[in-house]
Formats: sequence, C-alpha cells, structure tokens
Amino acid sequence: MSHILTDLSDGILTLSLNRPEKLNAITSAMYLDLVAGLRSASADIGIRVVVLRAEGANFTAGNDINDFMTAANLDMDAPGFQFIRAIHEFEKPLIAVVQGRAVGIGTTALLHCDLVFAHPSASFSMPFVTLGLVPEAGSSFLFADLVGHQKAAEVFFSGESFDAHAAMKMGLVSSIGENADEQATAFAAKIALQPPTAIVNTKALLKSRSHDAVSAVIQAEAQLFSRALQSDEARDAFMRFLSRKG
Ligand code: COA
Repeated sequence: MSHILTDLSDGILTLSLNRPEKLNAITSAMYLDLVAGLRSASADIGIRVVVLRAEGANFTAGNDINDFMTAANLDMDAPGFQFIRAIHEFEKPLIAVVQGRAVGIGTTALLHCDLVFAHPSASFSMPFVTLGLVPEAGSSFLFADLVGHQKAAEVFFSGESFDAHAAMKMGLVSSIGENADEQATAFAAKIALQPPTAIVNTKALLKSRSHDAVSAVIQAEAQLFSRALQSDEARDAFMRFLSRKG
C-alpha cells in the first residue's frame, strides 16, 4: 500500500502523506510517489494546482531516519533529492496544509510552496545541525532570504522549533486557522478557475530572481548533506534516535 494518497477533482490534485503511525516520516518510496504525482500534474493540462497535505495529527516528522541510516553516497538521483528538485521546478501552484509537526523537509518543502495554510497546532523545525547534517532543499538560501541571516542562523544552529504565529511573522505560512484544510481547498478551487497560462507565467516571474541561484544552492547543499550523512556526528545522532526507546 502506498503511503501517499492521491485525489484529483475539479483540476486540483491533492497529495496526502499517509503514514500517521510514524508521524508521516517520509521514506524513499514516498518521495518517489510524490515526484510521480508532481510529474503527472505537470503533464496533465487538466490539473491546475497541487495541494500537499497529510493525514493524522502531524504534517511530517521529516525524512525517515532509518533511511538516513542506510543511505550511502547519495547523488542527485536519490529519491529525497529528486523530490527537492521536483518541488523547486514545479511550475504550477503548490499549496500546503500543515498541522502538528513539520520537521526537516516538512518545513523546508514549504519554502517552495506558493501558499501555506497552517492549523494552530502547527510547529516547524529544521534540526539538521542537531542531527550532524546541513540544511537542504535550498533552505540555506530561501530561509535566510525570508528571515535574514541572523534569524536563520538562530533557527538552524539551535534546531529549535517555532509555532504557527512565528512562522506567519516570518512569511513561511500565509494563514492560520482551525479549518486550514477547507481554506486551502477553497483557495485551490479559486485558482483552478483562473487562466492557467497566466498563473504559470506569474509563478515563473515570481521565482525568476532566485530560481537559478536556488538550483545551485540545492546542488551544493546536497554534496555536503551526503557527506554529512556518513559522519560520526550524524551516525551518533541517528543511533540516539533509533535506540531511544530500547
Ligand atoms: N523517522 C523514522 N521514524 C520516525 C521518525 C523519523 N523521522 N519520526 C518519528 N518516527 C516514528 C518513531 O520511531 C515512532 O515509531 P514507533 O512507534 O514504532 O516507535 C513513531 O514514529 C512515533 O514517534 P515518537 O518519537 O514516539 O513520537 P513523539 O511524539 O515522542 O516524538 C518527535 C515526536 C518528532 C519529537 C520525534 O519522533 C522525533 O524526534 N522524530 C525525528 C525527527 C527528525 O529528526 N527528523 C529528521 C529531520 S532532518
């Protein structure tokens, strides 16, 4: 059974993370399903907008740590990096709905979304440094661009989480509400009725200042990230997580 649910209605493709028993931690197979979903949305003229959301109380606890543990010499074709490139290159509107925890890629993916609807329970964290890793998905550029160097350094260096209100102040989420899912669907329905070429061109213009720079940063981060995955700092952190209940 796939841990990614897809639903297509009225030009809106909804991709839902569906592994709530593991807080929607994302495995390689899930990344590949997400990439396939985004590719099908690009290719299908009838799909006007994609909504990324999750089942259960949490958006996602980030990359599956078991997969980090077994990863070796990742190149840009590794599933996680394929997903990062796919959201960076996705040319149609991408809307996210976040509730509960958004850890790691759960937060950095939002930097590639056009709108983010947050439930009041949403909390965000990018604990890469705490895990002996480095930021990914262009976040070392995009997050610093959003909040400034010092705030970005505070968040990355500490690995601490911040709540929906802080995220909204930063510009990482566009609205907060108990009915974030419904609000996202209503907004997606509105854009699905707009002229599609004008929407795609407008998104491209909004990203034109940063697109190529972000592509280069994604590559540079990926090299450091792959190396860091093999480091003692990271291996010790993964082992601490995996053995914490035993
Ligand atoms: N990878 C793999 N499994 C994960 C996971 C992850 N990133 N996050 C949570 N899980 C699993 C847990 O192992 C646990 O499985 P189990 O019930 O079979 O033991 C289940 O999901 C519930 O998680 P648990 O840790 O018991 O929930 P919690 O509420 O006590 O803690 C977190 C929540 C998010 C603080 C904690 O799960 C955590 O730190 N996860 C790792 C987050 C992370 O570092 N992600 C990578 C970012 S780059």
